Amino acid sequence: MPRIVHILADGQPGDGLTVCGWVRTRRDSKKGLSFVELNDGSCLSNLQVIVDGDLPGWQETLGMVTTGASLRIGGTLKESPGQGQRVELLAESVELIGAADAENYPLQKKRHSFEFLREIAHLRPRTNTFGAIARIRNALSAAIHRFFQDRGFVYVHTPIITTSDCEGAGEMFQVTTLNLERLAELKTEVDFEQDFFGRPAALTVSGQLEAEIYATSVGDCYTFGPTFRAENSNTTRHLSEFWMVEPEMPFYELTDNMDLAEAFIKSIIGDVLGQCGEDMEFFNKRIDDTVLETLANITDNDFIRLPYTEAVSILESADRTWEFPVEWGRDLQSEHERFLTEEHFEQPVILFDYPRTIKPFYMRCNDDEKTVRAMDVLVPRVGEIIGGSQREDRLDVLVGRIEECGMEPEDYWWYVDLRRYGTVPHSGFGLGLERTVQLITGMNNIRDCIPFPRTPKNAEF
Ligand code: 4AD
Ligand code: MG
Repeated sequence: MPRIVHILADGQPGDGLTVCGWVRTRRDSKKGLSFVELNDGSCLSNLQVIVDGDLPGWQETLGMVTTGASLRIGGTLKESPGQGQRVELLAESVELIGAADAENYPLQKKRHSFEFLREIAHLRPRTNTFGAIARIRNALSAAIHRFFQDRGFVYVHTPIITTSDCEGAGEMFQVTTLNLERLAELKTEVDFEQDFFGRPAALTVSGQLEAEIYATSVGDCYTFGPTFRAENSNTTRHLSEFWMVEPEMPFYELTDNMDLAEAFIKSIIGDVLGQCGEDMEFFNKRIDDTVLETLANITDNDFIRLPYTEAVSILESADRTWEFPVEWGRDLQSEHERFLTEEHFEQPVILFDYPRTIKPFYMRCNDDEKTVRAMDVLVPRVGEIIGGSQREDRLDVLVGRIEECGMEPEDYWWYVDLRRYGTVPHSGFGLGLERTVQLITGMNNIRDCIPFPRTPKNAEF
């Protein structure tokens, strides 16, 4: 069966065809014609269907051809006299597949708020905005694979259930088959030996540690999968479940890592712009009229590269009152990141060499004893989109850092082993998929950039 995207692009007047989809609107003219706007999700545009009032059976069906109903329509394409479409379908048969009771169907023609649509996440992909986001997210995912596959990277599937905390932030969702209600009744100490894995386990916050294993065996590789963070932050940029792309490369130092991250962002944005023209026009018109300009600025210019220490100086001397104080040794907040990329430089910025006290154990220590080879890529509207680093490849320094971070080197014995046998300098980074969708579409809230968002107190659907 042809999809509407292909009919609108290639269909020729005279073609006979059958098409299925959902009614967006129906309008009846005084002359007895009905105009049905049919959408099948393959593109933003609807196919306009003309039904003559005399079509056998139509008068009995017409009343049920309302917004949301599903139809199978047979007919002949003709050139459209109307504006906005090249062809339209003159119906010869209309079959109502499923009605959508107009009294109760929540998606009526008017504009709905994104907050309301989040409450009906099972229906929101039928709207223009969420259909477009789904197609952009799909094109973006394919572009990500293409970028790495074209460069010979191996796609590695890292585990979802893990017993190690990569980021060391203690923000993990525990995975257990212990009966918590029973334990509460018994008021006993939890014996993890009785648990499914015989020890505490959790959902992963990152596939990096396992990616390092493969980077130091098969070479350049990447993971791309869901990650989970039990961080109680209710912001427009945080999800409890999000997708992350994590390349990991042996023999890469931090500058090589930056070069790859910059080329990667430019390539995936360029691919989506090239492939999703109609959807991107929609976002630029209806969601944020600066989005195409922002993306062109990213693809066409070199990213600024700036040490954290210099960023702190810029922020300290900015004529601005910050909600969160700026001080060397503190982590930067979204307001600081956005100031640097949106106002001070007005282009993407890669900050590097962060204080070691605010970064995880695995980052390579600099000789100054104060900073580590970390890098964050900051982009307008979103702030941090990538976090990465060169990894600590020296056995003794790594063990020292694990201890310094209050963790047990024995718990990371296999990770430490990589430094014991054939260690090499290596680097990698993680790109948040939803933040990238946010950047590309101009959507304000990250909850609208994933089909079924999980955030504190919210896991419906
Ligand atoms: O900076 P993060 O925490 O880095 C890591 O997880 C490293 N292990 C990556 C690596 O070096 N392989 O997270 C990386 C990116 C962030 O820059 C952000 O885009 C996204 O993941 N991210 C989130 N996206 C949505 N919701 C959250 N709660 C996120 N936390 C991080
Ligand atoms: Mg980070």
